[in-house]
Amino acid sequence: MKMKAIQIDEYGDENVLNYTDVERPEPKADEILVKVKAAAVNPVDWKIRDGKGKDFGMKLPLILGADFAGTVEEAGSAIEKFKKEDEVYGKILTDCYAEYVIVKENELGRKPKNLDFKEAASIPMGALTAYQAIFDTAGLKSGQKILVHGASGSVGSMAVQLAKAKGAYVIGSASGSNKDFVKKMGADEFIDYKTTDFEEVVKNIDVVFDPVGGDTNKRSYQVLKEGGFLVSLVQGGSEELMKKYNVQAKVMASHPDPKQLNEITELIEAGKVVTNVDKIMPLSQAKEAQVLSKERKVTGKIILEP
Ligand SMILES: NC(=O)c1ccc[n+]([C@@H]2O[C@H](COP(=O)([O-])OP(=O)(O)OC[C@H]3O[C@@H](n4cnc5c(N)ncnc54)[C@H](OP(=O)(O)O)[C@@H]3O)[C@@H](O)[C@H]2O)c1
Repeated sequence: MKMKAIQIDEYGDENVLNYTDVERPEPKADEILVKVKAAAVNPVDWKIRDGKGKDFGMKLPLILGADFAGTVEEAGSAIEKFKKEDEVYGKILTDCYAEYVIVKENELGRKPKNLDFKEAASIPMGALTAYQAIFDTAGLKSGQKILVHGASGSVGSMAVQLAKAKGAYVIGSASGSNKDFVKKMGADEFIDYKTTDFEEVVKNIDVVFDPVGGDTNKRSYQVLKEGGFLVSLVQGGSEELMKKYNVQAKVMASHPDPKQLNEITELIEAGKVVTNVDKIMPLSQAKEAQVLSKERKVTGKIILEP
């Protein structure tokens, strides 16, 4: 049986994206076939497309798309926790820009009841990455102070909300035009990185969350208190700066985690975490969607509907 998907046969700009017919995958005993109702666009999609797929050791052709929401179409014979028609969502790394996707049991969470599929698809990558960065890697605790760079972004806006839900004091940094959005996410203070050098206005921070890298990353060491933690999504720690400021710094890579995803589902159902869908587009317009994502022409997620 065939299905529609966005596949690349070579690395390159958005013009390598093909909306095409491919074989619909068959689940093995320990796999689940999910009917994708919505898939989100994430920066990792166009990074893989641009050539990062090579560094990740990926093989061509490949279908892009890192997270999704949908219904279980078929559960392999060894699957115990899910059955046909269950409403699910999850984060993998590729394959989600398609009508169907194959996943393992430990890559799925229960879709929040109060979200539709489009809203649900906007959650897994951002929320799981933020959760693992600020809690698992940096060890953020209630009552601590966190500086969230990129607080208007997909992962940053989740970091703001999860940190607030934990009882932390949150300073969010983003473009001035996104101030209201970041405050709505729950930030106690806001810094416009385009007009203010954050290191001039904050100090004694327990955790800095960095989805930006480069100069933003380097300047972040000095705002930490001794023993503080700089967690980055994109840049490793500098031994020299860690020593100089007596702090820790690490890059992290997110991974699927059903227990954490279900905890996030509960936070969403309790109204403690909200989602931000900016644009809904048909799967056939993945090209236009990736350009919007790369050029940061949206605040909130772009969702593709197969
Ligand atoms: N390691 C991992 O496992 C992992 C997982 C997920 C994502 N990532 C990476 O993390 C990054 C962020 O992902 P995302 O989905 O959150 O992206 P996104 O939604 O596009 O958000 C990007 C954020 O960065 C801010 N920003 C852009 N340029 C900046 C600058 N020069 N200084 C300060 N802030 C700046 C933007 O602020 P304004 O728009 O307000 O200017 C926005 O808040 C991407 O590179 C992505 O590939 C890594």
